[in-house]
Order: sequence, then structure tokens, then C-alpha cells
Amino acid sequence: MPESKLPAVGETIFTTISALSNKYTAINLGQGFPDFEMNNGLIKCVYDAMKDGHNQYANSGGSLKLRAAISKKILNLYGSIVDPNHEICITPGATYAIYTAITSIIHPGDEVIIFEPAYDSYVPNVKVNGGVPVLISLEGPDFKIDWDKVKSKVSARTRLIIINSPHNPTGTILEGADLLALQAIVKDTNILVVSDEVYEHITFDNKKHQSVLSFPDLFSRSFAIYSFGKVYNCTGWKVGYCVAPAKLMREFLKIHQFNAFSTNSFVQEGLANFLEDSAQYLSLSVILQEKRDFFSKLLSESQLKPLPSLGTYFQLYDYSAISAKKEIDFAKQLITDAGVAAIPVSAFYQEGKNQSLLRFCFVKKESTLVKAAERILAFERTCAVL
Ligand SMILES: Cc1ncc(COP(=O)(O)O)c(C=O)c1O
Repeated sequence: MPESKLPAVGETIFTTISALSNKYTAINLGQGFPDFEMNNGLIKCVYDAMKDGHNQYANSGGSLKLRAAISKKILNLYGSIVDPNHEICITPGATYAIYTAITSIIHPGDEVIIFEPAYDSYVPNVKVNGGVPVLISLEGPDFKIDWDKVKSKVSARTRLIIINSPHNPTGTILEGADLLALQAIVKDTNILVVSDEVYEHITFDNKKHQSVLSFPDLFSRSFAIYSFGKVYNCTGWKVGYCVAPAKLMREFLKIHQFNAFSTNSFVQEGLANFLEDSAQYLSLSVILQEKRDFFSKLLSESQLKPLPSLGTYFQLYDYSAISAKKEIDFAKQLITDAGVAAIPVSAFYQEGKNQSLLRFCFVKKESTLVKAAERILAFERTCAVL
């Protein structure tokens, strides 16, 4: 057996929690996927594309029609001119795009600044390329980035900073001032940026998503990454895209062409036609904010206390009034004793920091959320009696 390239990587928390959730037939508010139907109009567009013969290899960078539609959307939303021919690549999901971006630029020994809690692929993606993750731990309840601290972590070996806004798992967002602070730090350096913006259309309370694409100096050194799965409630389709200036995109395409090479063609054709209707993605914030508020209202009598969620599929809840257990142990108890699955936030830190926080996914049918809240409240009543 060859030596493992990722010796510390085991089963992900999502697999562990989902397996336990299935065993106890719990309601799974752990993994981030909707349990309601996706848009029939998009299904029809994709079906028609397949029937119309879009079934052979697509262009390696992606369907030009889809790339042109994305470029138009970026201009409208972020005021940035992006060349569809040389600055966009359609990928089999955002996770793939993140891996490809990191692989295209990280050499052994390069340092990569990553904020924790972090989406679970970032650290292994850096390590598999021989890079060195430099972790900056953010703390609840606000999980704010201290940019002076970031500056102090920059060294001659720093090659990349990874940001994610709206942020999984905390539901925080970066403001324009944050991106300006980042822009000032990387100015006149060789540092590049991966900006994971998969929840770009999911911001709440009238907050506007701030994209690196709106900041020309930042965009000139960034890979911005998106996922159609999160936009159209079809996470299982695994289609996303990367936007980067031509010089970075050239390197990205070198890795992509010898890996997936291209992304499935009929989905791209269907998406290109569906993307014309901007109302579909612009209405997402309103729909999901209602779900966030619906779930937190159902839990208003609960001892679980919500932290602010300004975007994403998720809201963190503090359970310290119910239990002193470690997050993983309380998450397991919630599955076995209440029949509801949620993800311990400690799983998003390499060293497993415990803050008595669980991440709940509220992008579910109302009936699912009602049932989950009933179970949580019933569980709390039994805790009170004990
Ligand atoms: C922050 C973040 N980035 C990337 C992804 C992955 O997106 P995709 O399913 O398109 O690979 C997710 C999915 O949960 C995510 O939360």
C-alpha cells in the first residue's frame, strides 16, 4: 500500500451524521440540500436540450452560449466585464472548481491562508498539492475577520488566500469594507485569491452580496467560484463555474482539460436557456429568508438560540442552555433522542473547536421544519424532567 497523501483524512462529518440519521430515521437538517421539488421549467429546458441532440462532448471551457449568459449576468449584478471566451470555465460543480483552481497554482511549500470554520474541501485540497494551510480561527457569535491578524500571517511563502461569502457554516457575509481590506493586503504581492461565492444569491435582511468581481484589483488576482446546484435547488446535478482573468484561467484550463475535460452538454444548454429569466435567481433570497424565519419562529420557545444568519442555507443555534456536552456528542444525542440531525460546527475546524453550536439547514419543506421543531421541543421537555 503506498503512503497515503492525506493520512489525516477520514470519513466526513456529513457521512457520519447522515448514516446515524438514517439509522434512527431522524429528520436530516444536517446536509445542505433542499427536500422540495426543483423548478419544472429548468427540468424541461434540460430535457429539451437532450432531445435536441446536445449529447456529445461540450467545449472544454463550457458551452459558449452558457458562458455568454453568465457574462451578461455578471455585468448586470457586479458591473464587471468578463470575457466569456477566456475568463469563464463551466465545471462539474463548485468543489471541483475549487480543487482545480488550487491545483493550478499551488506548489509544494506554498502557504495558503484559510479561515476556520471552513468548507471541508479547502484544507485537503491544499495539502494534496503539497501546500501548507495557515489557519486563522474565527469565533462566534460574529465570526468576523480581523484583517490586521491576516496581515500578520502573510509571509514570503503566502501564495493564496481562500475566502467564502456568504459563509458556510456560519451564515455570515463579507462586507465591501472586508474586500477592500483584503485588496489592500494583497496589493503589490504575488498572493492570489480563491473566492467561494456559491451562495451569491442567498443573502438576507436586504444585504447585498459583495463579489470579488466588483473590485477590479482583487478580480485581477482571483478565481471566483459558483454552483448552479445552490441556485436552482439541484445540488445533485453538480454543475458550477469558475471566473478568473485570462492569465489565471489559462492555468486552470490546463488542469481541467486532463481531469473532467468538459461538463455534461445537455445540462449546460438547458441552463443557458433558463438563465435568461433573472427572476428565478433574484427571488431566491426572499424565499429562503422566509424559511429561515419560519424555522426560527417554530423554535422561539426552544432553549436553542439562533445566531444571526445573513445568507446561505444555514443557521447556527447555540445549545448551551440545554447541554454542556461537546458538539459532536450533543449532535449524536439530538439524533438518537430527538430524531433530528444537525452538524457540529467543530467539524469545520481542523482542531475541533467546541462552542456549543450546531448548524441547521432550513432549506426544507415547511412540513419537514414543523416536524423537526416539534421533535426538538419534545426532546427539551424530557431534558427538563430529567
Ligand atoms: C461553501 C461551499 N462551497 C462549495 C460547495 C460545493 O458546491 P458543489 O455542490 O457545486 O460542488 C458547497 C456545498 O455545500 C459549499 O457550501
